[in-house]
Parts: sequence; C-alpha cells; structure tokens
Amino acid sequence: MLKVFQLISIFVIFFVSKSLANDIEAGDKRFHKNCHNCHGKAGMGVASYPKVSGLDVSYIVDRLNRYRSGEKIGSNSGLMIAMARKLSDEEIRVLAAYLSSVNN
Ligand code: HEC
Repeated sequence: MLKVFQLISIFVIFFVSKSLANDIEAGDKRFHKNCHNCHGKAGMGVASYPKVSGLDVSYIVDRLNRYRSGEKIGSNSGLMIAMARKLSDEEIRVLAAYLSSVNN
C-alpha cells in the first residue's frame, strides 16, 4: 500500500514541477517580447527602470493587476499602466512565475 502512495507522490511531484517549468518558459518568452526593453535582460533593471526579477509571485501578480486596472503606484506608473493594460491573466501568471524564478 505504501508503495502505491509513494508512486502517486512521485507522479504528482513530477507533473507539478513540469507545469511550473512550462510556466517559467512561457513567462521568459513573454518577458523578452517587450518587457526587457525597459527592465533589462531577465528583469535585472536598467537605470531608473526597476529590477523586477527575484520578487514574490504574489507581489508581481498584485502589481501587474493594479497597473492593469490603471492604478498609480510610483511616479512613473503611466508607463507600466500602458504596458499592463494589454496583459491577460494567463500572461500575468506566467510572467510572475518566470520573474520570481530568476536570481540575478
Ligand atoms: C516603457 C518601459 C516599461 C516597459 C516596456 C515595462 N515596464 Fe514594468 N515598469 C516600468 C516602470 C517605469 C515601473 C515603475 C512604475 C512606477 O513608478 O509605479 C515599472 C514597474 C514594474 C513592476 C513593479 C516593480 C516593483 O518593484 O514594484 C513590475 C512587476 C513590472 N514593471 C513588470 C513589467 C512587465 C512584466 C513588463 C512587460 C509586460 C513590463 N514591466 C514592461 C517601465 C516599463
């Protein structure tokens, strides 16, 4: 019986980590479409554009949702509001998975 549970756990872990890897890959692609123009390669930040990598998933999702709804957060929110307007829930989800996974 124990073996069956062990086997099930191995499958669950395998599929969960595989889908996370897919999200990270999709987020990487999406990020390097245009976000990197301001936030730099892998979100490491450029001049006055903030570093967006290595943050918590929940923090990134929250920020992107707030910008998407038109909320001003910092003095340069106008730029991000224009960017976030076009994002779907799915894009926000994978972007957050990717950015939080980057350690730079
Ligand atoms: C035109 C330049 C520009 C582009 C392109 C851009 N951003 Fe931003 N981003 C900014 C600026 C400027 C801020 C700070 C805004 C403020 O003052 O509130 C910001 C803030 C953020 C933050 C919040 C950072 C924090 O520490 O709170 C996240 C997350 C973010 N951007 C992600 C993205 C993603 C994902 C994309 C691609 C869909 C993107 N940005 C595209 C300029 C840009």
